[in-house]
Amino acid sequence: MVLPFQTLPDSKLPLVGTTIFTVMTAEARKHGAINLSQGFPDFDPEPELLAALARIITQPVHQYAPMAGLPRLREWIAAHHRHHYAAAYDPESEITVTSGGTEALYAAITAFVGAGDEVICFDPSYDVYVPAVELQGGKAIRIPMHSPQFSFDWDAVASALSPRTKLLLLNNPHNPTGRVFTKADLQALRQLAARHPFLILADEVYEHMVFDGRTHLSMAADPDLQSRSLVVGSFGKNLHITGWKVGWCVAPAPLTTEFRKVHQYLTFSTATPLQEALVSYLEPCGEAALSGLAAFYQQKRDRLANLLSGSRLRRIPSAGTYFELYDYSAISDLNDREFCLKLVRENGVAAIPVSVFYADSIDSRIIRLCFAKSDTTLVQAAERLSVL
Ligand SMILES: Cc1ncc(COP(=O)(O)O)c(C=O)c1O
Repeated sequence: MVLPFQTLPDSKLPLVGTTIFTVMTAEARKHGAINLSQGFPDFDPEPELLAALARIITQPVHQYAPMAGLPRLREWIAAHHRHHYAAAYDPESEITVTSGGTEALYAAITAFVGAGDEVICFDPSYDVYVPAVELQGGKAIRIPMHSPQFSFDWDAVASALSPRTKLLLLNNPHNPTGRVFTKADLQALRQLAARHPFLILADEVYEHMVFDGRTHLSMAADPDLQSRSLVVGSFGKNLHITGWKVGWCVAPAPLTTEFRKVHQYLTFSTATPLQEALVSYLEPCGEAALSGLAAFYQQKRDRLANLLSGSRLRRIPSAGTYFELYDYSAISDLNDREFCLKLVRENGVAAIPVSVFYADSIDSRIIRLCFAKSDTTLVQAAERLSVL
């Protein structure tokens, strides 16, 4: 279609194109490849959850939900935070149901970041963060994590703090590296917080996927940090329903007030039938389902790792999330993007090149594989990867 003017308005995101997730998923479809690129399960959610949705859908649940979310769902989220983190959040004034973790992140950034503000995050960083900051006229200060340890560099954060720093954007457990916060990380963060009034936006959507006996160290559980934190969670990740896009944001009342000012104009509310189905499933079954999640995904991580143990891919063990990084430098000198394109086209497995998560496209010959897949998928993918 021809536009009725000669020059387009300036793009607000001139450097953003189609994301690598869309590219790789399209390539996977085109070549009939096994898709270990995008982070979503290829198995069904619990039958009780689907039954709850089927039951609910014929009820009168088809009009707007309350702006902050169904009260009973907020009650459940409050109980969840009491149970796991001994954290008290008031469902009335401190908990908001959102359209996925993504909306919560975007609303929080929009609520608190203005022109000239700086937001510190770690690279490799989840792809939503930087565009959301830049759309507000803010500047992302990206602190690189380096292969193979991918440690959180708190000295670099300390050096990056300035009077313009508004927000620390922390992703724990961390996608794509699989790093999780240790007590030393929290200690370092507390020390920084003692001398700078930054807010924390804690992306904890993988909170229940933490492995090998580790504990998820949530901002909600830390008395010093909770009061300055907005903590984001996702039912999509926890219940194998990424397509539902239902999540939440918990934060002290004054922060929630500002958060909701944006949320109400962004989406206003989240799909009522989905919230109703969630309440109906979670009240009797929720905590039992979540308590098995770490073991469930650890078993999948280990299965893929064992299947690949004879291959030339070198595993960089994941402590959390449903991703694991693999170093392919023994196989190819191609850069990671080219390697992934060759992999999907010639070997029939889609993966994500890790350089796309870095400001400077740091390429350490590492790919990210998603192991949230059925055992059959993992076996088939491993067969294809083992011949490399
Ligand atoms: C680190 C991280 N944050 C947030 C999200 C988005 O969560 P949701 O699907 O609930 O919007 C994802 C999804 O991949 C993620 O990996």
